[in-house]
Amino acid sequence: MSIPTPHIETKDKHMIAETVLMPGDPLRAKFIAENFLENVTQINSVRNMLGYTGTYKGREITVMGSGMGMASIGIYSYELFAFYDVKKIIRIGSCGAYSKDLNLYDVLLVDDCWSESSYAKVQSGYDKDVVEATVALNDQVVKVAKELEIPIHRGRIHSSDVFYRQDFDSFKNIRDEHGCIAVEMESFALFANAKILNKEATCLLTVSDSLVSGELTTSDERQNAFTKMMTIALELA
Ligand code: HPA
Repeated sequence: MSIPTPHIETKDKHMIAETVLMPGDPLRAKFIAENFLENVTQINSVRNMLGYTGTYKGREITVMGSGMGMASIGIYSYELFAFYDVKKIIRIGSCGAYSKDLNLYDVLLVDDCWSESSYAKVQSGYDKDVVEATVALNDQVVKVAKELEIPIHRGRIHSSDVFYRQDFDSFKNIRDEHGCIAVEMESFALFANAKILNKEATCLLTVSDSLVSGELTTSDERQNAFTKMMTIALELA
């Protein structure tokens, strides 16, 4: 396939940086571009999946929304990796805590994710239910977080296809059987695409709610308060 792709309208590959920061919410991509980047150009508005390229401390970086769920991030990350020559995607998202050791606004670096999703099997025949983040990228995240003195948790997460489960408590079986400390809905497809296309991907998450304690943040807080995680990702890029 050539560019532009069905979901990204930029006709010039060079308008998209080698490293892409990918929040779920396109308005968060806009917020990051407006508040953290210089020399910003909008690179996508198809389906309102806003994307921007700009510079951070002189380095070019793209920030673009992924939407929610495997199907959505699967499309955008595939097009960026395969057709726009993107090398690294750093997802910056939110997660629900499965562990009582995680508090609201804690930052979590994903080592690997377990999923019930058929995404990787259908996409490439990958038949395992765990897929890893890129180790070298995670080593860099740890280094940057240390330099910035931002504490991070690490571990396996559940990358889920379903937000609303009829049996709410079923998360406990997934947590206990697979060792997942939190839940989100995109990493598995992102990491599977990176693996099959020989690219790099990782995921930083901020805890937005807890399935254990029932605490949650509002969507306004979620949009604006994730500065710690964004700073790590921007410094990394
Ligand atoms: N479930 C799934 N994905 C999420 C959650 C959740 O509770 N919180 C943030 N992303």
